[in-house]
Amino acid sequence: MSVHQSNKHDSAPLHVTGQAHYVDDIPTPEGTLHLAFGTSTCPHGHITQMDLDPVRAAPGVVAVLTDRDIPGRNDVSPSPTPEPLLTSDLVEYHGQPIFIVVATSHLAARRAARAARIEYAPLPAILSLDDAIANPTRFDAGGKERVYTKGKPEIAFDKARHVIKGSFDLGGQEHFYLEGQAALCIPGEGAEVTILSSTQHPTEIQHKVAEALDIPFHAVTTITRRMGGGFGGKESQGNHLAIACALASRVTGQACKMRYDRDDDMAITGKRHPFRLQYKAGFDEDGRLLALDMTHYVDCGWSQDLSLPVADRAMLHTDNAYHLSDVRITSHRLKTNTCSHTAFRGFGGPQGMVGIERVMEHIAQTLGRDPLEIRQVNYYKPGAGGQTTPYHQPVTDNIIHEITEALLASSDYAARRAEIEAWNRTSPVIKRGIGLTPVKFGISFTLTHLNQAGALVHIYTDGSIRLNHGGTEMGQGLFTKVAAVAASVFGQPIDAVRITATDTAKVPNTSATAASSGSDLNGMATYNACMTIRDRLVHFASDFFVCDPKEVVFRDGIVDIAGAEFPFADLVKEAYMARISLSATGFYATPEIAWNRDAGRGTPFYYFAYGAAVSEVALDTLTGENRILRADILHDVGNSLNPAIDIGQIEGGYVQGAGWLTTEELVWHPSGALWTHAPSTYKIPACSDRPKVFNVDLFDGENPAQTVYRSKAVGEPPLMLPISVVSALQHAVAQAGGDPLFDLPATPERLLNAVERGHGRGW
Ligand code: MTE
Ligand code: MOS
Repeated sequence: MSVHQSNKHDSAPLHVTGQAHYVDDIPTPEGTLHLAFGTSTCPHGHITQMDLDPVRAAPGVVAVLTDRDIPGRNDVSPSPTPEPLLTSDLVEYHGQPIFIVVATSHLAARRAARAARIEYAPLPAILSLDDAIANPTRFDAGGKERVYTKGKPEIAFDKARHVIKGSFDLGGQEHFYLEGQAALCIPGEGAEVTILSSTQHPTEIQHKVAEALDIPFHAVTTITRRMGGGFGGKESQGNHLAIACALASRVTGQACKMRYDRDDDMAITGKRHPFRLQYKAGFDEDGRLLALDMTHYVDCGWSQDLSLPVADRAMLHTDNAYHLSDVRITSHRLKTNTCSHTAFRGFGGPQGMVGIERVMEHIAQTLGRDPLEIRQVNYYKPGAGGQTTPYHQPVTDNIIHEITEALLASSDYAARRAEIEAWNRTSPVIKRGIGLTPVKFGISFTLTHLNQAGALVHIYTDGSIRLNHGGTEMGQGLFTKVAAVAASVFGQPIDAVRITATDTAKVPNTSATAASSGSDLNGMATYNACMTIRDRLVHFASDFFVCDPKEVVFRDGIVDIAGAEFPFADLVKEAYMARISLSATGFYATPEIAWNRDAGRGTPFYYFAYGAAVSEVALDTLTGENRILRADILHDVGNSLNPAIDIGQIEGGYVQGAGWLTTEELVWHPSGALWTHAPSTYKIPACSDRPKVFNVDLFDGENPAQTVYRSKAVGEPPLMLPISVVSALQHAVAQAGGDPLFDLPATPERLLNAVERGHGRGW
């Protein structure tokens, strides 16, 4: 079987030799033109004057387009609330696209864009959560906050021995995909266009381009071979470039390409939503939570984009792995005048989980206990323990106790914690800390209809297999996993399967590759397509050889027919001669899910993915500098489709999450401009920032839900494992006599301040 094996990523040799084609590497037709946006330098206001003549006169410029040049809809939004591609009146953030320059080169387009003379009548700009909370404009039905409740929190608070309150800020995060946003439009006959896009959502690109050009969906083909990382940042944020290229191609008749320079990419596109989390928690002497009131203030940026489902998922992860009997969760989806925050690995789940993990730390601090004990007291009961989530979904597959026990043993947690505290007593400047945090992450799109996928499989007469499905490859190894599914159904080696670019003309009406469900959905659709062909081959073979269909077995690269072995290609050729179809589509829709978003009730998730991590840090209490010394992770991927790729996802997710929670800080200038608009000022983790000791293990088990080969989704859940780094830093700060309830990301400045605050010297 090809599944459950560590097949190497199909593009690995291409990646490391530079031969892999990203959008910007695709050879372009002669005369291809290059695009850049001219953007707003005002965070909120009306355009009073716009002189684009100097742009038109700049060297290499072929055309300059404004909103008046859009024949159809001026709308890039993935939500029903429109979001203009170009504006000629109201600007709502610094960096908002106003016009498109079409030029003979990338640099000529960028240079010319700066020559515009635009004047604004400024309006008051909301540039912080403080401002947004004071003057709220909310992006949800009726401009109200969304509230989900279970049980009777007010009564439960009255009964609680202890009640604590707290509030903290949690920053956003730049995706920093290595390949920036890019699109290429190749005009075809008549109105037809082909868009090559670095997108997680080719179907949405198709729809948005068609609507902007006012042509039917059938006239637009979107093709995506791979992205150099997406991380949620290419679910909706590529729409702008694809539409701009299609418009410019319509006007000029030439192929048109657009790729953002890194600074532009960081200034224009949305990021992870920053949050303020406010809580009131009631608990007993053992630290058991009896009542919780959690409020999320969500910084959505200027437009709705994906903010509602992101904020919903944050609410749905308020529990993480803990049973909350009486709970109220309130979510304010606030408009601000910055870029529009968007999907980012975890899709709001991480922000929700950081909230409850802070509550655990605060309870532990109040009772003077190891936070781990508080966590364990509050875990959902094991297995099908009969408890429900705050949204009333029964938790039936809980394995967090087994994971925690195994990890405590393998990481030697108790002994190391004691050793660290002893060591700290003799170390005045450097303090170490250790923490364990769990992850329970819900798998499925909360918008139930998105949980569907399609695939298209062909077998050629030499026995080679060509595979297409609706998912996109962004480095996560989806194509390799799904190829293994096809290979396994036919008992073929994985090399017998060729994976092809995602193409809206081959598999239609697809969902974004997101919510970690790429392999669950497309793997199953592919499995179904392959089974259709295999059933045809089995019937053909059993008729031909007059045997029972059960005696036709596909294994080890051959077909075993009633004990006789045949090359797969021979059976395929015979089937072709007998006029049997060797091509099939497959479809899959996730069963058993149902979600009432307004009531906050139902079964939004097919199952949960679990994991836990122990992190150890060292903190310099004179500078706030810190390091992750060691991480031990035990993560649940069910029966892994590909252990090597899954471990890669876990390592990458952990490091990316650690960056978000420690060094990656977004700062906006009072003018509304993003100050941290390049790696010079925005610090993502480098290779040297990974834990010195990094032990990653897969939990041994299979998914009780009937997923493809009993595997589990892996893409997002590991991003939340490094909440354990925050726990470890909190331990170190407390050991230094500091205040461990600091804002995040835990930059050196914040950590130093937290230490100083404990000694009455903070700022
Ligand atoms: N891994 C890599 N290397 N690059 C990426 O862009 N995106 C993450 C995750 N892992 C990403 C990644 C996100 S946000 C999601 S939703 C999943 O991969 C999507 O892919 P999957 O559903 O196939 O896991
Ligand atoms: Mo991932 S944030 O669901 O693209």
